[in-house]
Amino acid sequence: MTVQVLVGAQWGDEGKGKITDILSGEMDAVVRYQGGNNAGHTIVVDGETFKFHMIPSGILYGDVKCIIGNGVVIAPPVLLDEINKLKDKGFAVENLKISYNAHVILPFHTMLDKRQEDSRSKDNKIGTTVRGIGPAYTDKVSRTGIRAIDLLDKDILQSMIENRNWSAVLDVTQADIDQVVADYYEYGQLLKPYLIDTISTLHDYYAEGKKILLEGAQGTMLDIDYGTYPFVTSSSPTSGGACTGSGLGPKMIDEIIGVAKAYITRVGEGPFPTELENDLGELLRTKGGEFGTTTGRPRRCGWLDGVILKYSVNINSLTTLAITKMDVLSDMDELKICTDYVIDGKSTKKFPCNIRELAKVTPVYKTMTGWKEDITAVKKYEDLPETAKEYIREIEKIAGIPVSIISVGSGRKMTIYRDA
Ligand code: GDP
Ligand code: IMO
Ligand code: MG
Repeated sequence: MTVQVLVGAQWGDEGKGKITDILSGEMDAVVRYQGGNNAGHTIVVDGETFKFHMIPSGILYGDVKCIIGNGVVIAPPVLLDEINKLKDKGFAVENLKISYNAHVILPFHTMLDKRQEDSRSKDNKIGTTVRGIGPAYTDKVSRTGIRAIDLLDKDILQSMIENRNWSAVLDVTQADIDQVVADYYEYGQLLKPYLIDTISTLHDYYAEGKKILLEGAQGTMLDIDYGTYPFVTSSSPTSGGACTGSGLGPKMIDEIIGVAKAYITRVGEGPFPTELENDLGELLRTKGGEFGTTTGRPRRCGWLDGVILKYSVNINSLTTLAITKMDVLSDMDELKICTDYVIDGKSTKKFPCNIRELAKVTPVYKTMTGWKEDITAVKKYEDLPETAKEYIREIEKIAGIPVSIISVGSGRKMTIYRDA
């Protein structure tokens, strides 16, 4: 396999960081293709926890090139902080490369994100991460955005920021603007060694037969087109976004891995058909440590949603699944998987494209027997309890694709690999 894409098959936080990390040992390059520091990807190696918001999750391997593609929005202070922390720990951050064309999140975007969230009524709040993601992508699409390359020329930067006319939307003075120009020019100088044309670089890698992994952030249900709009992020986490956010073409992709939790979570507002707003939901949150990596907010928890899983298989052309957090389901008498939705008395396996239909969904569940055993030390599929295997087989039946990786703990080694 030359090019693989890894996407979140749910509402984010599926364990993409862990799965990217374990696959990265085999890779020549790992590429983030969209999103920004709204992402929080956790990797646990030998008991040490690393949390990445901007840097690709392959960075812990010294010889893997880590690329931030043109589809990402970068927050220079966050990125520099991550770089510095890694350097302090002795990691080879010179393997990091950043696209000239990645758009830049300015403090004004973050202020605007907060202002927009504050001004929304209770029912209309998105529950964003308040990292300026929406406003930065809005500027990109409005053709008023600043790209990484623009940070390198102070006059260009000054004129671009002034032309954006921030004082029309925010209480900012000329002194504020001048300060941002000075700070971001300085950040540009610090980031200069990392800035390159990532598009032609990736095409060179491809021509050389190098192995490339495109690491998604967020998840299918947060996609601007396919998610639960407007309760979504402002980019394309799905596999289509992997092409537009990296410059590699669709025919170059060999495998598309969907990462899904064995249950499902969501952080932020918006509809959630299988949500458990009861003790069971609380149990999943506690056992699974379901608190946001970026904002620390408690994640909403629910049963695995097979309708969403199948939708995700279709939208992304998933070829295989990595199921994470199977260990969290241990010691439960019974487990449920949503197989169908009932909307206005009619049963369907199709995910409704209209959020108002989604609000009317009653989930239909298949109840399955749980397992009591602690499975965190299991290394081979054969050694899983029979009921855990049945749970995996049910997922495969619903998704129509194989489950090739089962994660049973946050650590690198707590992983079961399955042959097709
Ligand atoms: P990402 O955004 O998709 O990379 O996921 P996050 O890192 O935000 O959240 C996933 C959380 O689950 C992290 O704390 C991981 O360390 C943890 N995790 C990943 N896989 C497993 C697993 O199989 N079992 C358990 N118990 N935790 C896991
Ligand atoms: P990773 O990569 C989970 C959610 C926010 C909010 C919505 C919009 O760690 O899986 P935004 O700040 O993007 O405008 O917020 O999207 N969200 C995430 N939820 N994991 C993420 O990233 C997320 N990134 C954004 O909570 O509901
Ligand atoms: Mg996360």
